[in-house]
Amino acid sequence: MKKGSIILKNASELLTVSGFEARKGETMNDLGIIENGAVAIKDGIITHVGTTEEVLSQITDTSEYEVVDCAGKTVMPGFVDSHTHFVFGGYRADEFSWRLRGDDYMDIMKRGGGIINSVRGTKEASLEELIAVGKKRLDSMVMFGVTTVEGKSGYGLDRETEIKQLEAMKALQDMHSIDIVTTFLGAHAVPKDYKGKEDDFITMMIDEVMPEVVEKGLAEFCDIFTEQNVFNVEQSRRLLNTAKEMGMKTKIHADEIVRLGGAELAAEVGATSADHLLQASDEGIKQMAEAGVIATVLPGTAYSLKEDFARARDMIDLGAAVALATDFNPGSCFTESIPLIFSLATQKMGMTTEEAITALTLNGAAAVDRADKIGSIDVGKAGDIVIHEFPSYRFLPYHLAVSTVEKVVKSGRMIFDKEEIVIK
Ligand code: NIG
Ligand code: FE
Repeated sequence: MKKGSIILKNASELLTVSGFEARKGETMNDLGIIENGAVAIKDGIITHVGTTEEVLSQITDTSEYEVVDCAGKTVMPGFVDSHTHFVFGGYRADEFSWRLRGDDYMDIMKRGGGIINSVRGTKEASLEELIAVGKKRLDSMVMFGVTTVEGKSGYGLDRETEIKQLEAMKALQDMHSIDIVTTFLGAHAVPKDYKGKEDDFITMMIDEVMPEVVEKGLAEFCDIFTEQNVFNVEQSRRLLNTAKEMGMKTKIHADEIVRLGGAELAAEVGATSADHLLQASDEGIKQMAEAGVIATVLPGTAYSLKEDFARARDMIDLGAAVALATDFNPGSCFTESIPLIFSLATQKMGMTTEEAITALTLNGAAAVDRADKIGSIDVGKAGDIVIHEFPSYRFLPYHLAVSTVEKVVKSGRMIFDKEEIVIK
């Protein structure tokens, strides 16, 4: 994608969230705020950060830059949505309405709905159809200020469809300005033919799908749904250790509905992140904090499933590095709304505004192993920036569940400007 050169100046608040690794515990509150701040980006990379006076005094010729006055605005790093399943065919609005009437997510899954329902829809969709819907979803994410998104396969559960999902993401990466981090989630559910033969399913994924994924360079991470009635800890350990041997990094859907020990397993295998964690134990959280595993919490999913929220407050107090993400998917959480995640994190999980911002920027970047390249406004990092329409970051949770994003800059190029939208 094209790179640009831009200077953003006179920002009421410029939040650097400075750092090249995840922030743990108390340090998540430090946003590195510069009043009347400016940032300069040359050919896609941040070259200067400071007060407007400092930055402009160091750039003698601004003719090669687009210059944007951000007076009265807040400037911060682009959001990193580090956990989504945005490539899928078909929808599950009917299941959602059953759940509103009291049906249980796992019961619907046992009856052949849930993930398996989306597997059917994704098998039926052509590669072109997946690319077309994926593009629309990415456009919507950009409008919420997301500049990097992680996307998982997992609605195939067979070689052909898993590869098709990953190839759709690869094609989208070539045509879209957002950055996509791809994750192979072949072990997302147990297909009918493999019920009771979960070990064989894992073996099939390892022998028949993973090698092609790796050979074609289709996924950076390998993930698994470690859950009661899905894959147990031993099966998960085998899959993830093999993925590591094949050169992939790892993630786990851990301790979402039942406390199986997914958090402990994440620490043991050195996963980059463990996600969901609604039922994670204190011990598991501590082990993750020590092992440097990012604790990714997904409050949209708990909200949508009417579950209790993950204990983000306790996780931070126990010294973990917490990231927030949407979990955008057709079943348990059909939303790409960053403002909703912000509201839930601050209103329902006891996170401070500062912690929530760190969780969606620097720690989100760490959850996709990119804290050295994105997630903060530091010299040398990619020029991925969001300009919010209000003078302080405190407006983000205050404007309840409404997006405050006015402009989005990706690699130094303005890719979204709300001011150019015309209401007729
Ligand atoms: O992260 N928990 C498992 N996987 C997804 C749900 C996917 C679906 O329901 O389609 C999740 O919530
Ligand atoms: Fe998920």
